[in-house]
Amino acid sequence: MKYLLLIGTLMIMTLPVYGDSTAMSIGERFHHETGYGDSGAKGDDLKMGQSLPLYKTYDRATIVHLPVTQSDDFPVAKAMQLRRSVRTYSDKALTLPQLTRVCLAACGITHELGAMDIALRAAPSGGALYPIELYVIAHTVDSLADGLYHYQVKDTTLELIREGDFGDEINDAAFDQDWVGTTAVTLVLSARFARSTHKYFDRGYRYTYMEVGSICENIYLQATASGLGTVSVGAFNDDALNAFLGIDGTNEAALLIMPLGVPTQ
Ligand SMILES: Cc1cc2nc3c(=O)[nH]c(=O)nc-3n(C[C@H](O)[C@H](O)[C@H](O)COP(=O)(O)O)c2cc1C
Repeated sequence: MKYLLLIGTLMIMTLPVYGDSTAMSIGERFHHETGYGDSGAKGDDLKMGQSLPLYKTYDRATIVHLPVTQSDDFPVAKAMQLRRSVRTYSDKALTLPQLTRVCLAACGITHELGAMDIALRAAPSGGALYPIELYVIAHTVDSLADGLYHYQVKDTTLELIREGDFGDEINDAAFDQDWVGTTAVTLVLSARFARSTHKYFDRGYRYTYMEVGSICENIYLQATASGLGTVSVGAFNDDALNAFLGIDGTNEAALLIMPLGVPTQ
């Protein structure tokens, strides 16, 4: 008993307590320990991820080449003004050029730094490491089979992972929110954290969450400019969505669902 009490006391003494001596929540600890101070990173148990290739590829997938067309001539200030989260959609199909423009706004390459073999993208990324992946679940898109696709950034293609109508599965994973799984397309953004943590250790998680936000806004603005609607959906069953995508939820995890379709008037 005496030893148990001693171990208990030692454990309490070694628990991280900060400031007002109140134990931090996991969110507070995460933010604090991934902070930088005068002597660098504050946390002393920060983990680095394995290095990962910049582009995820599905080697035996059927490839769909996306048509890159002139983007909509729509002032960005107007798109910001009109942007709203849309939760009612018509049955209208998306065209492949409309879908392509949204994918390009999310993750498209916009500038090649030839000498350094670096390709910069539409949204910023800490260290140009680009941890975010984009999946497209097609439901009603002209000349595109229904199914789950991975958007291949390096050559603007879709890699078909599984053909089929997955609306119900996505809707279930999003706790039956009516606007999920019922639109022409559902986008899912995931993170391969190690691309960022390999350089920034656990602080890379912060960067990854910031980056998905930038990409999310690009998607909103491009959707608005194209007469489409979207909504960021953060409430979902992580295990169900990760399993659906075929990712493990640790090395790669789903972060955001974004339905995409033509809004009802
Ligand atoms: C991180 C995040 C998570 C969200 N999750 C959901 C969600 O699960 N379901 C939903 O209908 N809207 C969700 N939203 C949308 C917000 O409800 C919406 O942005 C807010 O009401 C403001 O409306 P607006 O986007 O039209 O300006 C989310 C927004 C953000 C930024």
